[in-house]
Amino acid sequence: MITVRVPAKVNVQLGVGGLRGDGFHDLANVFFAVALGDEVTARHGAGVTLTCAGPDAALVPLDDTNLAARAARLLAAHHGIEPNAALHIDKAVPVAGGMAGGSADGAAALVACDALWGLATPLPELLAIAAELGSDVPFALLGGVALGRGRGELLEPLEVAGTFHWVFAVADGGLSTPAVFRECDRLRERAGTGSSERDVPTPDADPALLAALAGGDPVALAAALGNDLQAAALSLRPALADCLAAGLAAGALGALVSGSGPTCAFLVKDALEAASVAAALTASGTCRTALPTHGPVPGARVITSADGESGRAD
Ligand code: C5P
Repeated sequence: MITVRVPAKVNVQLGVGGLRGDGFHDLANVFFAVALGDEVTARHGAGVTLTCAGPDAALVPLDDTNLAARAARLLAAHHGIEPNAALHIDKAVPVAGGMAGGSADGAAALVACDALWGLATPLPELLAIAAELGSDVPFALLGGVALGRGRGELLEPLEVAGTFHWVFAVADGGLSTPAVFRECDRLRERAGTGSSERDVPTPDADPALLAALAGGDPVALAAALGNDLQAAALSLRPALADCLAAGLAAGALGALVSGSGPTCAFLVKDALEAASVAAALTASGTCRTALPTHGPVPGARVITSADGESGRAD
């Protein structure tokens, strides 16, 4: 039995370029891995089976559309072996929340099955399989802080000092990532700027944001936070503006929608402030619940490797 812990992410910068011919958008995407995460356990089994536990378990698809099941099958196909694994997801990351929880489970299943089946797949190969699964899956393997280009899968680890403290306000109900990207395109068309690759300049990482991360400076990072999908998420879910305002009123240094939303992320000074902002947000009635956490943390890694199984626990 192998258990893998995997982080959720917040995008401290999400620069969105024009719509490409393949339906994706070029990004300048600064991923930041947070301690709030899922655990995926893999046991020997017949075929790929999937179970899930946690407050949002009922919202998690348990069929072959689940990225964890797809990851197990893709890894087995890559090595020309039968995909035999009983997978279980302990789900803490909000479902369809803009924190890449499904992608995280895909990355965790890759690492768990790799260990369960004793494959020792080199990291570059795992990253390539991860990119096939989805734009955010490679980052969940790496963790830390990284700049994602292309559709988000071309990763460059970034320098970061110290620990940053966060609060995540979980909304009722998710938002569809493709729908938020489509709304972003629609808003750009409506504003007259156009939405194609020809119309929108290729985004780049903000030097002030990179300096704030490298310097471990939460005040500077708060000032540099930015998400080009935020207007689209707010357009589809206007009530998120109340949540962002409530967190700022409670003392957060900065606030933004996490990825495609609807989870809202609040950067705070320290762990004490995280607890008080989380309590104020929960009491505000603008979100279902608010969770304090911190980062950066490492990517998907084995935390339990029971005796009698082949595999590695590194
Ligand atoms: O790669 P992933 O499956 O997570 O992407 C889900 C959807 O989000 C894509 O089908 C696309 O509509 C949108 N997307 C995008 N540009 C990106 C990443 C995702 O338009 N860079």
